[in-house]
Amino acid sequence: MPWSPNLAIGVKQIDDQHKMWFEKADALFEAGKNRREKEYIGEMLKFLDEYTKKHFSDEEKYMSEIGYPGLAEQKKAHADFVARLDKLRAEYEKSGGSISVILGANTMVIDWLTNHIAKMDRKIGEFTGSLK
Ligand SMILES: [Fe+2]
Repeated sequence: MPWSPNLAIGVKQIDDQHKMWFEKADALFEAGKNRREKEYIGEMLKFLDEYTKKHFSDEEKYMSEIGYPGLAEQKKAHADFVARLDKLRAEYEKSGGSISVILGANTMVIDWLTNHIAKMDRKIGEFTGSLK
């Protein structure tokens, strides 16, 4: 499932990063479905991991700049997801590069992104709107 306009929260920098985030997740799972070599998939997984961390840190910086009251809750959700991705990478490495590990995580990752954006990040947009 790709990013769709109903996931827009109305803060351009965050929306742009969310789109890119879906693209990176999608590229990883496509590589898995197409049975690309394990080094390539490992590289994509690393990419997604790094992009996720960068996105979370930018989003947290934005929340802190606007004095967003839900920052602590967001930080916790972000840390939980980073831990899940770390676990996924560790499992992938332990399995010797098993594609099924990656494909099995597809739904988990996409569901998490969609839910998190629709429920928690949406409120950042609403708060931003209330400041104007
Ligand atoms: Fe978030």
